[in-house]
Amino acid sequence: MSARWLILAVAMLLFGSAADAQSYLGPETCQACHAEAYEVWKAGPHARATVSLTGRSAKDGRCLGCHSPQQDKGLAQVTCESCHGPGQFYSPAYVMKDTEVSHAVGLESPGEKACRVCHDASSPSLHPFDYKSKLKLIDHWTAERERRKSTRAQVRVLDEGLGLALVAAPRSSAPSR
Ligand code: HEC
Ligand code: HEC
Ligand code: HEC
Ligand code: HEC
Repeated sequence: MSARWLILAVAMLLFGSAADAQSYLGPETCQACHAEAYEVWKAGPHARATVSLTGRSAKDGRCLGCHSPQQDKGLAQVTCESCHGPGQFYSPAYVMKDTEVSHAVGLESPGEKACRVCHDASSPSLHPFDYKSKLKLIDHWTAERERRKSTRAQVRVLDEGLGLALVAAPRSSAPSR
């Protein structure tokens, strides 16, 4: 059994026993590693969803259900974890970098169905929810993927540089007699 599968098995075991007590960490925890996604979210509609509730509605459970779904966990707004699931178990780096493991312990890749939980007929929009066009309006993944691509390119350059250095090293340190 590879180390990866061992991690997966242990992660699922831990997750299974603690799934009921899942903790939400808040968007600043995600920001530490997903700065680009965070910036886009912060400037977008979901980061001010609770701010829109004024007066009595700010305490009205009927409104909070969509405008602040983790209110009972001490988190306002529609946050990263409202869509991607509570992060306690998937946010450690060694879990996050493995898609299969992270999804096994609660990371969600939300799709149209997830949006429609809140963007339904009872929300105040004049137009029916159009997934494709609305998705574009909250795009925080293009920036993330660009960063990942450029990180990989840098690693490649470093790898190649290291390769050259290793090839060059023995020659340059060889006695010159
Ligand atoms: C310790 C750093 C770290 C933290 C904290 C972190 N992530 Fe990640 N996350 C990563 C890494 C590394 C990846 C792998 C891809 C990459 O390089 O960006 C990833 C991948 C993801 C993905 C894509 C997964 C896939 O393969 O489909 C999502 C979605 C995600 N993280 C959401 C979150 C959310 C939401 C939080 C906060 C609760 C969070 N992350 C916290 C490091 C982190
Ligand atoms: C079923 C989920 C849901 C519930 C419940 C809900 N809202 Fe909303 N609300 C939304 C969505 C989704 C939008 C964004 C709609 C759009 O513009 O397409 C929205 C938008 C708004 C806006 C406009 C924000 C802006 O600046 O454009 C206000 C104000 C608002 N809601 C107040 C309330 C109040 C007050 C309640 C409770 C009486 C409430 N909502 C209950 C989902 C909900
Ligand atoms: C309203 C729901 C919603 C919120 C809020 C949200 N996300 Fe996402 N996120 C999505 C969706 C949907 C996608 C995938 C889009 C696609 O690829 O079609 C995504 C994609 C991502 C990805 C890229 C995954 C990949 O495959 O490359 C990362 C990383 C991510 N989100 C992190 C975050 C972080 C961090 C926050 C908070 C700062 C956040 N998200 C808030 C819905 C959301
Ligand atoms: C937990 C509830 C919730 C979920 C899930 C959710 N939203 Fe929202 N969304 C809201 C609320 C509430 C607002 C209104 C924010 C405000 O008060 O201004 C909103 C506003 C928006 C807006 C700006 C108004 C508009 O309609 O143009 C867009 C775009 C949007 N959401 C896209 C999405 C997409 C795409 C998804 C799924 C990936 C999604 N949302 C999932 C609650 C939600």
